[in-house]
Amino acid sequence: MSKGYNVAILGATGAVGRTMLKVLEERNFPVENIKLLASVRSAGTKINFKGEEITVEEVKPESFEGIDIALFSAGGSTSKQWAPIAVEKGAVVVDNSSAWRMEENVPLVVPEVNPEDVKWHKGIIANPNCSTIQMVVALNPIHKAKKIKRIIVATYQAVSGAGAKAINDLIEETKAKLEGKEYTPKHLPASIAFNVIPHIDVFQENLYTKEEMKMVNETRKIMHAPDILVSATCVRVPVINGHSESVVIETEEPITVEEAREILSNAENVIVVDEPENAKYPMAIDADGKDEVFVGRIRKDLAFENGLSLWVVADNLRKGAATNAVQIAELLVKYNLV
Ligand code: A2P
Repeated sequence: MSKGYNVAILGATGAVGRTMLKVLEERNFPVENIKLLASVRSAGTKINFKGEEITVEEVKPESFEGIDIALFSAGGSTSKQWAPIAVEKGAVVVDNSSAWRMEENVPLVVPEVNPEDVKWHKGIIANPNCSTIQMVVALNPIHKAKKIKRIIVATYQAVSGAGAKAINDLIEETKAKLEGKEYTPKHLPASIAFNVIPHIDVFQENLYTKEEMKMVNETRKIMHAPDILVSATCVRVPVINGHSESVVIETEEPITVEEAREILSNAENVIVVDEPENAKYPMAIDADGKDEVFVGRIRKDLAFENGLSLWVVADNLRKGAATNAVQIAELLVKYNLV
């Protein structure tokens, strides 16, 4: 019998943590034992895994003893505090927060793009930002063929990306507004019902938000393309789950729509949905619950000489977070790194 691994999930009660558990089960990851960790607030909560009720525990240093792989999705400050402890206890941490992504000795990995980078990990491997993951899965195959010089992206991001409590905000505020009542979202920076918010994460000195700068810096690191120019506008929309992106690229060499379709049709975990004549294009509602990245609206961009426009959609809780993290865990097993 093949080896099973002791796996911990920190942030197991959150939107991503719960999806991680589901994805581990669906992909039949070789779990020997599972440990579900969160704060004291939800210690005692029971969550089902493979037909068994598992009790969530408050995270403590001892929690990581004997753990092979620790999947973290509990926010940046929690990760800063607990990842070094988990590593010290012998676990490899796959971290979904932004805490470690740009550290020089931490690989930032999208398995379809830079799987080999897991090999130089020193205990922590970072899972990229959700919007970045789906964009690079679609763009890296084009970059390999035609070298991308410039990316201009606008995102339409679901509230699930801001956590389980933000989903609640959208639902409660929508209900309240329909009933003529007041509700102020507690986990989003502005009103989200019947609105869009051009503000995700905090503003930086250059007037971009931190979310937008993640797309710039993480894209370069994952694609090993330090010179690629990226400009992002990240927007929260009243969608429960599934991020959409309008992506415009400029390539060094000319690229036709047919060539782009061909490249994307052969790309790993990309599904082309592009039949304008039948009104078929990727939509968040269809990507919800799926692990692939969906690409459509492929057309010559009229504003650049070698320009191409695309519409890229994925389930941000899955490919943008949980699935990508579990794929990284699968790479650790494949390369005998745990
Ligand atoms: P808890 O349920 O105890 O608050 P989301 O991003 O969906 O809001 O989920 C965040 C996850 O991170 C939850 O599981 C939450 O657990 C966990 N978490 C947040 N802060 C801490 C902390 N200080 N220590 C441990 N887990 C935390």
